Amino acid sequence: MSNRAPLPPEIARRRTFAIISHPDAGKTTLTEKFLLFGGAIQMAGQVRAKGDARRTRSDFMKLEQERGISVSASAMSFDFRQYRFNLVDTPGHSDFSEDTYRTLTAVDAAIMVIDGAKGVESQTRKLFEVCRLRDLPILTFCNKMDRESRDVFEIIDEIQENLAIDVTPASWPIGVGREFVGAYDLLHDRLEIMDRADRNKVAESIKISGVDDPKLAEHIPANLLQKFHDELEMARELLPAFDRAAFLNGSMTPIWFGSAINSFGVKELMDGIGEYGPEPQPQTAAERQIDASETPVTGFVFKVQANMDPKHRDRVAFVRLASGHFERGMKLHHVRTKKPMTVASPVLFLAADRELAEEAWAGDIIGIPNHGQLRIGDALTEGENLRFTGIPSFAPELLQTVRAMDPMKAKHLEKALTQFAEEGAAKVFKPMIGSGYIVGVVGALQFDVLASRIEQEYSLPVRFEGSNFTSARWISGDKAEVEKLVNVNKGHIAHDSDGDLVFLTRLQWDIDRVVRDYPGVKLTATKEMM
Ligand code: G4P
Repeated sequence: MSNRAPLPPEIARRRTFAIISHPDAGKTTLTEKFLLFGGAIQMAGQVRAKGDARRTRSDFMKLEQERGISVSASAMSFDFRQYRFNLVDTPGHSDFSEDTYRTLTAVDAAIMVIDGAKGVESQTRKLFEVCRLRDLPILTFCNKMDRESRDVFEIIDEIQENLAIDVTPASWPIGVGREFVGAYDLLHDRLEIMDRADRNKVAESIKISGVDDPKLAEHIPANLLQKFHDELEMARELLPAFDRAAFLNGSMTPIWFGSAINSFGVKELMDGIGEYGPEPQPQTAAERQIDASETPVTGFVFKVQANMDPKHRDRVAFVRLASGHFERGMKLHHVRTKKPMTVASPVLFLAADRELAEEAWAGDIIGIPNHGQLRIGDALTEGENLRFTGIPSFAPELLQTVRAMDPMKAKHLEKALTQFAEEGAAKVFKPMIGSGYIVGVVGALQFDVLASRIEQEYSLPVRFEGSNFTSARWISGDKAEVEKLVNVNKGHIAHDSDGDLVFLTRLQWDIDRVVRDYPGVKLTATKEMM
């Protein structure tokens, strides 16, 4: 975010971001309105879904199913004014998962949606912490202002205190609940009036010469106007003014007040993303930083989604382009296998449908259909051996044994598990002793999701059972000592899906013992995926 050379205009106009929120705050509704204003759909809820076979796996799919919008992807692109927005979906279920973390490695900014009546909720806080690890710029949208909500200062205070970030109002609401008339856009001196009659209509926008403009009185009832003036005066005293540098380094968040369902405040938020950015940011590899302006194409896989269409065993690797101008048919270097890879049918997820991507630029997300060659963390370049960093694999916090109900189907189970491991949906460990597999996840809900996916996608009913172990640690270090550790503790050793050694245990004491007895061995709770 420092003094970089200006980016080529095609790259500079790109905005790649995710929405973080607690379930029910309004992420789906907001996404729908983004698409509406991005011209990707004509009228919320009018575009028909293509095929009802898909199941809810992401919020975009939820959109597709419940509201009949055809999206079917984890990333969507659309244009708004002169900008190209790439909106990346974060998984919607309330269990925090690695998937979410990885998604956030592919974006340059995040929109935090909070419910005006509820404030900062648990899932928002967790996701916010992940954004903070990367100093992502955050724009805040306080939703549902058409309903009784908390006092504005209280909401802002809660964000500041709970998340330790400065909050600056980008707009100020006028009235709340039934009395809510709209908001004053503090960054552009505009009065936005909400239309309750037509939910898809954009608010009437009235240019105002400043908060003292007598024109305000023509649109706002006297009692609300007085309150608005009082509050604003207080806000000016108590809250910091917008500071773009502080926003870009993640220490300040501008907040907009709106109502997604009434299409209110959404355009202003989109204007905010467009105007304040950020542009595609440099990405970090072990070797060096890759700037979006560099000519050679580079990118990394942050997500693999298998069986998007259950009828075809296709899988799509989602690649965030870190630099360059990609063109369809390009031959790229697959760094992990050192093999060339011709990207013949990349897809760009234009909101209307999956479309062949003829070209893409740094900042874009493209999907590359493949048969399993591409894994999370993989780099594609025009020849340079780069390893993008910061895409970790976390030690699972819950471990269970999985068995096929039909013992004859063990091979099928292995195949399904391998696929989920590659997709990053679970950790799969093959213990050295005994048959069967141990599956590790971060949130308990993931076991249910896995069981139902294995059953649906592989017609294979399975059972998850408690395992003897509760923790997993990756083993590295001195070769001779690792070998000794493995030989002496065979009952605790397994291989993960990459063939790497893992120490399984139920006691912290065991881990401490290994650390004490094998000083040359390292046990770690994360592993970089590359
Ligand atoms: P999520 O993806 O974050 O889980 O939230 P989603 O958009 O599905 O919204 C959750 C609920 O909040 C929905 O109601 C939605 O209509 C409502 N909602 C979203 N934005 C606003 C708003 O600005 N004002 C008000 N009053 N409500 C809003 P639901 O009853 O669960 O679903 P539905 O029957 O409306 O589809």
